[in-house]
Amino acid sequence: MSYDRIEVTPLAGALGAEIRGVDLRRLDNQTWSEVHEAFLEFHVLAIRDQELSPDDIMTTGRRFGEPNFYPFVTGMDGYPYIFEVIKEPSETRNFGGGWHSDTTYLPQPPLATLLYALETPARGGDTLYCNTAAAYDALSDTMKDLLGRLKGVNSAGLKHSGGRSAHHAAIGGMKIQGADTADSYEAVHPVVRTCPDTGRKSLYVSRAHTIRFEGMTEDESRPLIEWLQAHQIRPEFTCRVHWEPGTLTVWDNRCTQHNAVNDYNGQRRVMRRLTVGPQTPI
Ligand SMILES: [Fe+2]
Repeated sequence: MSYDRIEVTPLAGALGAEIRGVDLRRLDNQTWSEVHEAFLEFHVLAIRDQELSPDDIMTTGRRFGEPNFYPFVTGMDGYPYIFEVIKEPSETRNFGGGWHSDTTYLPQPPLATLLYALETPARGGDTLYCNTAAAYDALSDTMKDLLGRLKGVNSAGLKHSGGRSAHHAAIGGMKIQGADTADSYEAVHPVVRTCPDTGRKSLYVSRAHTIRFEGMTEDESRPLIEWLQAHQIRPEFTCRVHWEPGTLTVWDNRCTQHNAVNDYNGQRRVMRRLTVGPQTPI
């Protein structure tokens, strides 16, 4: 794909690109179509130097799909779908640490997440991403065949990091809600999903949210879930986004996972987050 209206600089071999030369508040059809093409090609776009109000974030998000509701953080006043991800200098726990795709425990998880940086640490606070389609491609045919017949049971309970209530209780700067209901959020999705836009298959399983395979016990499932998690995050499947105030990163939850690196204690980091495009994984 060639890009005429936007500047596209790949971040790594597997996925990710930095986008410059675009103002998301003023997108003509051709420019939007190039941004969307780049989204499908690179899966993670760090779009630099944006000045976005909450309304602008909503308008940009709606280009990808209808907004998704997030159950565990209260939205901004007047913008129920956007919430602030804040880590204060006094806090040591961060939000979004640990590899995952967003809200896979919903029946229709969002195809894309938009995260907009307002305040970033002088150093640290990057986000890691991995390409779960590349990870799928690298499997043996026998493993692909096995996984193609499995479904994952995905829970919001964060059972492998002490439970969501305990996890969120340690996050002080954010408007957390409903953590005690997390165990009631559960959804069964194929372990291998196919992107309806590209036809490409990807792994859709995570240590954070997938508690077992359907028809199997947690004990039986755990070793394969652990192996798949380790496989997906091999360095050759990853990229890293460094944030600056004004960076809007949008990623494809259908074929990536992300991990917010918690290496900036003592500094403040403030982002705004919107998920869009509820889609039943197939
Ligand atoms: Fe996330």
